[in-house]
Amino acid sequence: MGRYKILCVDDEEMIINALKTELMNSIPSDIIIEIARSAEEAFSVIDESLQAGDKFILIISDQKMPGMTGEIFLSKLDKILPDALKVLLTGFADIDAIQYAINNANLYRYIQKPWDREDLILTVKQAIDKYKTKKALEQNTLEIIRMNEELEGIVEERTKQLSQALEELESFSYTVSHDLKSPLRSIDYYAKFILEDYGPILTKEVIQMVLQIRNICNEMFDLINKLLVYSMTSKALPEISQVDADKLFRDSFADLVKTTENRDIELVIKDKLPVIQGDRVLLRQAVSNILSNCIKFTREKEKAFIEVSCIEDGENYQFSVKDNGVGFSMEYAEKIFGIFQRLHPKGEYEGSGIGLATVKKIIEKHGGSIDIDSVEDKGTVVQFILPKKAQRKEHNL
Ligand SMILES: Nc1ncnc2c1ncn2[C@@H]1O[C@H](COP(=O)(O)OP(=O)(O)O)[C@@H](O)[C@H]1O
Ligand SMILES: [Mg+2]
Repeated sequence: MGRYKILCVDDEEMIINALKTELMNSIPSDIIIEIARSAEEAFSVIDESLQAGDKFILIISDQKMPGMTGEIFLSKLDKILPDALKVLLTGFADIDAIQYAINNANLYRYIQKPWDREDLILTVKQAIDKYKTKKALEQNTLEIIRMNEELEGIVEERTKQLSQALEELESFSYTVSHDLKSPLRSIDYYAKFILEDYGPILTKEVIQMVLQIRNICNEMFDLINKLLVYSMTSKALPEISQVDADKLFRDSFADLVKTTENRDIELVIKDKLPVIQGDRVLLRQAVSNILSNCIKFTREKEKAFIEVSCIEDGENYQFSVKDNGVGFSMEYAEKIFGIFQRLHPKGEYEGSGIGLATVKKIIEKHGGSIDIDSVEDKGTVVQFILPKKAQRKEHNL
């Protein structure tokens, strides 16, 4: 580590010694005071010091010196020591010299001879403070830049790890769900055989229990199938083609309504929905999941309304699907795009909590985003944005 120095330059022996004494008595002792009697001598002192790794905080130079004047000396110095603060010691009539030094040497202050002691010490102390603050700031900035770079590296590394983990998880859930199906199928078969082969000798109670086993098996099948869709959606790269959104919503709605009984549900499509670019199968899945929620969560309404609209700007389509159902408290809204996240108890509304997670995945795979807004007992709006120019995203983290 180099030392910190102050350099005083004056050709008059008495002045230079007085200056040195004043400074030595009033500044921290770890700052070394160097003296030189001419610009030339000053340059060699600086040279040696720099080679030793020392740093100059402040240069105080007399203006009138034989050889090179103070202002010229300081302006040359500014090229070598841009960070050092420069003070010029002047007589009364040296305005031009001061002006020159301000313009060319980045002059910090000038002090008139004979100097006022307090004034001199204050100037020097302020210069030391200013230098140290500036250096600390530079150091902090460098540290911030370094930390930032480090952080970027970490983020990149984590993103890579996460994306790998996600891929593994997706193929894991695919395999698991696949493998779960066959034992489940066996259970269901055995239950079926029991009923078929031993039905006549079983009590009603036992028959009920076996039927219940089959029901639970069916629920499990449903869940596994949804999981499979989810993990396949995660793997799939969208196959982009022209998709008529109007037809997509109407067909999907018609399919879903077929499975409801005694319901009065109206689909209102405001204006005609546009033809968009995207993966037909995946978008159909997304729309079906959104509409099935609208249908499910309006079940208690005498008349259910589902309203679909689309606005566009230069780059995007923004779809909005609104229902007049039970809604939910927005406190938990951000959770529901996560897998298995549900806000309504299974006893009241059946489901698995995979639907919206799948929708989000699909929309993001198209380079879009999704949002939900709800008011309890009033209804829910799902909004999703799709870029007009389709994008294919493999993974969204
Ligand atoms: N239109 C809606 N109205 C009210 N609640 C909704 C609506 N859509 C989604 N939700 C809430 O978000 C949860 C997650 O939805 P989803 O992932 O489709 O799962 P599921 O339909 O299987 O319950 C639902 O359980 C429900 O609590
Ligand atoms: Mg659902």
